[in-house]
Amino acid sequence: MSAAAGWFAPRLIAWQREAGRHDLPWQGTRDAYRIWLSEIMLQQTRVATVIPYYQRFLARFPDVRALAGADSDEVLALWSGLGYYSRARLLHRCAQRIVAAHGGVFPREPGALEQLPGIGPSTAAAIAVFAHGQRAAILDGNVKRVLCRFLGVIEDPARRSVMLRLLESANELLPEQDLERYTQGLMDLGALVCTPRRPTCAACPLAPRCQALATGDPERLPLRAARRALPERRVTLLVLCRGSEVLLEKRPPAGVWGGLWSLPESTLDEADGLAREVRARFGAAPRTLEALAPLRHVFTHFRLLAFPWRVRLAGTGGGALVAAEEPARRWFRRCDLEAAGLPAPVRRLLGELSRRADDAPQPGA
Ligand code: ADE
Repeated sequence: MSAAAGWFAPRLIAWQREAGRHDLPWQGTRDAYRIWLSEIMLQQTRVATVIPYYQRFLARFPDVRALAGADSDEVLALWSGLGYYSRARLLHRCAQRIVAAHGGVFPREPGALEQLPGIGPSTAAAIAVFAHGQRAAILDGNVKRVLCRFLGVIEDPARRSVMLRLLESANELLPEQDLERYTQGLMDLGALVCTPRRPTCAACPLAPRCQALATGDPERLPLRAARRALPERRVTLLVLCRGSEVLLEKRPPAGVWGGLWSLPESTLDEADGLAREVRARFGAAPRTLEALAPLRHVFTHFRLLAFPWRVRLAGTGGGALVAAEEPARRWFRRCDLEAAGLPAPVRRLLGELSRRADDAPQPGA
């Protein structure tokens, strides 16, 4: 393998110069805060999705102190739609730690970065490279794929022993200089050329020595352990409406959609039972209950199949309002939803309902 060390990096670097990405909003800076933010957003999320979130986030929180001092609701609201919300909670905690324990300055060494909330070894390496030009090896999912193919690793990289071997190779392949371009080149190659399906090997600078390509079926690597089918979770969602307002509950910090504002859930699935439950839980009498189209969402560990019911409450229901004004519950006006941290499927559902309400004939019109 080490025979490849002097060959791999120069080719990758030359390719990055010619064909890589140079205008991403987090490039051309040494500001560790901006680089860290981009790397966290880019975990499990594509560049095109991240860009507008990144720009909005930076406009609101231009530095680590601004983020550390922010209200966690606002952080989650700006993250709303990016998914994997534990990233946002850890991001906020990390900013607070950097201010409290590091005087607002990001550590330079990957080992110190790794001690911070939400920063794993590969993210630590990326920050150390891009912010400080350090010699450190990234090894995210894309890079594992590139290396498994190039080196012809036929074992499952999810196995720890295989991952450690890949990490060793990743370190051996590092050049002495130009670490930023090299690292960006690895990321770009994984995203643009050495893609999971139908890699464009004709455009790859590493093709002449790629072991997977030599077998004639590069797509077969990396080996993927047989995936188990995800379990399905079914839930009823209550869209409790009072005029044009909707009741949302703040979810507990740990777990799915942690800390976000979402619709109350129920395990019941028919109108009479739901009407009784609404009276008992919210102290309000439903005027109408209407089953809406189910929505699906895939999480890392399960599939969610949600059955929303629109429940219009009778009148302005004084009792209902008192019961519903608990700390973890709030009535939201349509115009307040925009700035709130909502799970993307819930935001879509509520957006769809308010569009429908706008389209409905107005009384007296
Ligand atoms: N994926 C992870 N980090 C990235 C970066 N800095 N540029 C492009 N894609 C990435």
